[in-house]
Amino acid sequence: MKPIFTLNELINALSQSSKDNYKTIFKNLVLDKNVLDEYLNWSTKKYVRNGIYKSDNFELILLCWEAGQETPIHCHSGEECWMYLIEGEIEEVQYHKHENGDVEAKGIRKIANQQQAYINDAIGLHKLKNNSKGRTISLHLYAKPIESCSYFDEQSKTFIKKNLSYDTYKGEILSSKTVSSI
Ligand SMILES: [Fe+2]
Repeated sequence: MKPIFTLNELINALSQSSKDNYKTIFKNLVLDKNVLDEYLNWSTKKYVRNGIYKSDNFELILLCWEAGQETPIHCHSGEECWMYLIEGEIEEVQYHKHENGDVEAKGIRKIANQQQAYINDAIGLHKLKNNSKGRTISLHLYAKPIESCSYFDEQSKTFIKKNLSYDTYKGEILSSKTVSSI
């Protein structure tokens, strides 16, 4: 398989393949930050979810993280998730969910430039954080698209269901949250 240099090449490859090939397609990614220009939006309040493409079978989201921004501990609603680091560094902590609802950290790793990661609910829950001093950009592929997920609320120690939305889609700002393209 040829290297994939652009988002159009990636979307075409994913659209023409079954999910079995998504891993191989992601392994052939050679995406430079420059081809993502129109999707790069940032916020000082929270990492920004920039939707690139969504079909019945998959969605592609570019996450832009300021230093220190993080997700809560969350599941993936029975779907699969591949992540590709464009720039910067993400720290991933994986968790096991006990039957009584407790969560327990079971591993931590760093994903840096051009590296990849994969998770599904059988592997466990996870939390992602830009623990570096600079900005981080990560590309996420979900199959199928995830409309809602449960996240662990640290204060109440319970899981809360949340509907997921994009802050921007195809470059258009949708969220009232302060989003800056600088
Ligand atoms: Fe995730």
